[in-house]
Amino acid sequence: MDLKRIQANLTTRIIGRPAGSINELWESIDSTNSRAKQLGESGSSEGVIILARQQTHGRGRLGRQWISPLDLGIYMSVLLRPKIQKACEIGLLSLACGVAVAGAIRQNLAIDIGLKWVNDLIIDARKVGGILAEFYSGDSPFVVLGLGLNIEIPQKSDLDELREKVISLEEVVSSPIDRDMLICAILEQLERVYNRILSGDYDSILCDWRAHSVTLGQEVVAQVGDKVIKGFALDIEDDGALLIQEERGIKHKLHAGDVQIRRLDGSYC
Ligand code: BTN
Repeated sequence: MDLKRIQANLTTRIIGRPAGSINELWESIDSTNSRAKQLGESGSSEGVIILARQQTHGRGRLGRQWISPLDLGIYMSVLLRPKIQKACEIGLLSLACGVAVAGAIRQNLAIDIGLKWVNDLIIDARKVGGILAEFYSGDSPFVVLGLGLNIEIPQKSDLDELREKVISLEEVVSSPIDRDMLICAILEQLERVYNRILSGDYDSILCDWRAHSVTLGQEVVAQVGDKVIKGFALDIEDDGALLIQEERGIKHKLHAGDVQIRRLDGSYC
C-alpha cells in the first residue's frame, strides 16, 4: 500500500482530502477505527482516512475480533461529520457504505458480490469483508466507517478455522490485486453515496442495497440479544432496519444484530 499513490489517484473532493488534516498509513496499529475515533475527538476534518498494513486489535461488529494479518487485507477507516437531518441517515450511512464497497469491487474487479444485512460483503455465500460503522454524539458528532476486506488468505493462516465461511478477493480473481487502485475506487464510490445521503436521496441507496442483497427473500434466523427470531426476510425499511416475518405472521423490525441465511440443505450461513 502506498498512501502517496492513493492520494495522487483519488478524484474525490471530501473523502481522502481532509482540509487541514492528514491521512495516515500505519505499518501496524491496534485498530484504524480506534485511531479515527481519537482523530474525531481531537477535531480532525471530515474525510480523513486511516489505513494500516496490520491491526493488532481489529474490531468487528457485535464486539467481535477482526483478524488483520500483515498485508493480507485492506484495513481502513474514514472519518465523516455529516450534518444529520433525519435520524434514519445514520442507519442509511452504514448500508450506503456496503453499497459503495460492493460497487467498487464490481466495477474494479468484475466480481459478483452481494450484501448481507447489515453490510457484510459476500461472495459465494462466504464473507469477503465487513463494515463497522460507529457513531459518536456530543458537541461535534462524527461517524467512523471502518472497512475490513480480505485480499489474500494464504494456505496456512489465522483464518484457517473460518475457511468454510470466508473468502478472499484474490481467490476469486486468481491474480494479484492493485490495492491502491481498489482503495481509490472504494473511496470514490463512498463519496458518491455520501453525497446522495446528504442531498436526501435515500431511495437510490435503498434501491441499490436491495438489488444486491443476499438476505431479502430468504429464510433467516436472527440473533437479537438473547432472543432468536426465525422467519422470512421481507424488506429493509427507510432507516435500514430489516423486516422479518415469522411463520405465524408476526413481524419484527431489526435495527441491529446478526442474521443467518438458510441454505438449501437446511444449514445456516
Ligand atoms: C464486521 O464485523 O463485519 C466488521 C469488520 C470491520 C473491520 C474493520 S478493519 C478496519 C476497521 N478497524 C477496525 O478495528 N475494524 C474495522
